Amino acid sequence: MNDTPDTPARGRNGTGSPPAIDTTIAHPARVWDYWLGGKDNYLADRELGDQILQAMPDWVMFAQADREFLGRTIRYLAGEAGIRQFLDIGTGLPTANNTHEVAQAVVPDARIVYVDNDPVVLVHAQALLRSTAPGVTDYIHADLNDPDSILRGAAETLDLTRPVAITLLGIVEFITDTEEAYALVNRLLDAVPSGSHLVIAHPTTDVQGEAMTKILRMWNSSAATPATFRTRQEFTGFFERLELVEPGVTTLPQWRPDTDTRYTDREIGFFGAMGRKP
Ligand SMILES: C[S@@+](CC[C@H](N)C(=O)[O-])C[C@H]1O[C@@H](n2cnc3c(N)ncnc32)[C@H](O)[C@@H]1O
Repeated sequence: MNDTPDTPARGRNGTGSPPAIDTTIAHPARVWDYWLGGKDNYLADRELGDQILQAMPDWVMFAQADREFLGRTIRYLAGEAGIRQFLDIGTGLPTANNTHEVAQAVVPDARIVYVDNDPVVLVHAQALLRSTAPGVTDYIHADLNDPDSILRGAAETLDLTRPVAITLLGIVEFITDTEEAYALVNRLLDAVPSGSHLVIAHPTTDVQGEAMTKILRMWNSSAATPATFRTRQEFTGFFERLELVEPGVTTLPQWRPDTDTRYTDREIGFFGAMGRKP
């Protein structure tokens, strides 16, 4: 995190009272934190995280490939695409190379709004997701199932009449009804102008299908939030009204890899793509 003079993330809890933290059941942000080598996780998260790794050790690689995808997409957006505003929904626990750090390294005055529904993320994001002036970061405790509350909160920091990059990395799988997931994403896209971008990273059963299906069963029998993995066709549906940015839908490491991008020769059961609103 930055240790230079900074402006704190203006965290808000949409419900008005501190949300309860349940440590007895595995939560996505904390299991993900465990796989990424973080310390903000509990026994239930580590137990399910280990059970999944025993069945499919590749999940650590998936989490790392996702974070590298985040870095490449945010750098592209802040650089080539000229985006200055970012709405990162499903932020996760702060780790290395968070969205504001990557964006503000390219554009120092980039404005970032983080959104997550995990109360542990709320506590850590308020402390750690801090922006170096002249940039701005904000944090909203809210749920993807309530896009209007996300948009109301985001509008306090972002100018929604100007292009915004909406990033949904490793979150849409927790909206298990695909039509409902399309509707939620489209509601967000309706609220932003032409030139805005959408980025999604999403696990799939199209790659290593048998193992991925087994993992999904494990997750859904133990975790607080059920998930679904989607096919390429279902994933591509999120971008129906957008222009896909080259190279289109790929597995994560294949999306504009840099020379140091890892796992380009491995089977990664996660799709990634970016679309531009015409
Ligand atoms: C797998 S983590 C991904 C974190 C980060 N985006 C990344 O790619 O490293 C998924 C995050 O989405 C959050 N999340 C899951 N369902 C959500 C929902 N319905 N609304 C808001 N956040 C949600 C979880 O709390 C978690 O922090």
